[in-house]
Amino acid sequence: MILGIETSCDETAASVVRNGTEIVSNVVASQIESHKRFGGVVPEIASRHHVEQMTIVVEEALEKADVTMDEIDAIAVTEGPGLVGALIIGVNAAKAMAFAHQKPLIGVHHIAGHIYANRLIEEMKFPLLSLVVSGGHTELVLMKEHGSFEVIGETRDDAAGEAYDKVARTLGLPYPGGPHIDRLAHEGTPSVKLPRAWLEEGSYDFSFSGLKSAVINTLHNAEQRGEEIDVKDLAASFQESVVEVLTEKAKRAVEEYDVKQLLLAGGVAANKGLRTRLTEMFETSDVELVIPPLSLCTDNAAMIAAAGTVMYEQGKRSTLAMNANPGLML
Ligand code: KG4
Ligand code: ZN
Repeated sequence: MILGIETSCDETAASVVRNGTEIVSNVVASQIESHKRFGGVVPEIASRHHVEQMTIVVEEALEKADVTMDEIDAIAVTEGPGLVGALIIGVNAAKAMAFAHQKPLIGVHHIAGHIYANRLIEEMKFPLLSLVVSGGHTELVLMKEHGSFEVIGETRDDAAGEAYDKVARTLGLPYPGGPHIDRLAHEGTPSVKLPRAWLEEGSYDFSFSGLKSAVINTLHNAEQRGEEIDVKDLAASFQESVVEVLTEKAKRAVEEYDVKQLLLAGGVAANKGLRTRLTEMFETSDVELVIPPLSLCTDNAAMIAAAGTVMYEQGKRSTLAMNANPGLML
């Protein structure tokens, strides 16, 4: 039974997970309302909220799981990457509890967490590929066994979620913009011609800043000429470009690496357009597509506990010298 803690961005979360596969409790305190009026996450405000919420959220997770600290085998916490001031709160709470209750402490990589969210719904079969699409990351990760991660492609500039949020901001939509663009995209048609960054032949890297600029330029040019632009069509065109590149590259990688599963992970995995396209693509394939429910796509602590369980079983431990590491490598 592992207690997971996550505070890397704007969600204070704690969860109890049994055997790395079963969610016993999963509590998430979102700060979105506080950051909304600033159009993005304000790091200092995020840290303050984490301080206020941390103890309450952990107590609630234990209460809902109907367990005491005596029954917890280890404490897993997001060590990085993320906002340093935000990470520090979770890391220190985990260290304090590990010390007070004499429990093993395990520092977890946030992206490993996003990938392991899939293990809460489906057994992992290796080799597998994970398409990680979040606010801070866009990566294709190859896993040959538990706890081993090989990044075969990553974004060279903006992450997919970041591009969604920036485009949304230009369109005057509230933060976080991803879900709003997703909704508008379904009401429009992809009639605006926008670029797709395939990069060099065979590359699994991504780039979204050119697309983002193209959307912003289209909007500004129309404004200057006094022309009306259909925001729904623009959203649909943007989404079409993002989804096409993500899914085509994932499909090519799945074939080249001959994997058994493709796992979707990260906040942008909540995108309906992406989920639908991937589902259609793999409908007749031998490769199993795993897509977590929306609540496990965005930041949560169950995924940290799930990834922490594997590290616990592999004998990996952190010491009380562990510190928040915003630049932690997978
Ligand atoms: O994984 P996550 O919670 O944060 C990081 O670890 O970075 O992902 C948050 C990101 C935000 O950029 C948000 O706009 C995006 O996920 N997102 C979406 C959707 N829901 C959330 N992007 C596109 N479509 C969605 N439906
Ligand atoms: Zn995340």
